[in-house]
Amino acid sequence: MIPLRTVQTAGGEVAVILRRSDRAVGYVKDGVLQTLIDARGHNLAPHVTAAVDVLLQEKVRQALVLGYGGGAASTMLHRAGVDVFAVDCDPCAKPLAQLFFRAPPCLEVVVSDAAAYVERAAAASFDGVLIDFQDSFETPRAYLSQSFWRAVARVLRPRGMVIVNVTRWLHGGRDWRAFQGALGLGGFDAVALSDEHGAGNRILVSARGATSP
Ligand SMILES: C[S@@+](CC[C@H](N)C(=O)[O-])C[C@H]1O[C@@H](n2cnc3c(N)ncnc32)[C@H](O)[C@@H]1O
Repeated sequence: MIPLRTVQTAGGEVAVILRRSDRAVGYVKDGVLQTLIDARGHNLAPHVTAAVDVLLQEKVRQALVLGYGGGAASTMLHRAGVDVFAVDCDPCAKPLAQLFFRAPPCLEVVVSDAAAYVERAAAASFDGVLIDFQDSFETPRAYLSQSFWRAVARVLRPRGMVIVNVTRWLHGGRDWRAFQGALGLGGFDAVALSDEHGAGNRILVSARGATSP
């Protein structure tokens, strides 16, 4: 691995690395790979491609991406003509994505905690939300919070959908039941959970339940 750039953030260390063998470029936070693209700038994480494919099949026009990293999902959605609003807690994410991951400068990336952002976002603003902000083995507290999922439901338009990147840590760990419970109490029905992609990530597709507010 060749380190290209290292940035200290409040949440830890972000590094951009170049893999010698195939010139792939990775966005790494505290030693955990977040985004990987090939030498031509194409996403190399199959679960990210799967999540984007679902949003495009569902003809999502305005998407909220919670967890931007190197911006692979946001860039693919933007190139497909979707209006993308992305959120990341690290101020370095947007400039690093532009410099090393070919993210378009016009992509809107808000620096904020994801849960705080959805709390204050206008109701019914998006028809798709991609939830991808687990950046370590620890489950984000918001994933286990009914009020977070209610806030996500509020920003969705009727018939909008949520896609969650379910890491191997979440699916195989002690928080899996609590996560499913919070999602349900927050107003979502789990529609489908994919098989494992690549490094063990699954894609959970969820829609607002019939009884959600
Ligand atoms: C797995 S990466 C996202 C990868 C991205 N979706 C892509 O397609 O390249 C997770 C990102 O979530 C961010 N993150 C972690 N906790 C967060 C939080 N509470 N609020 C906002 N962003 C957060 C991290 O800084 C990291 O960049």
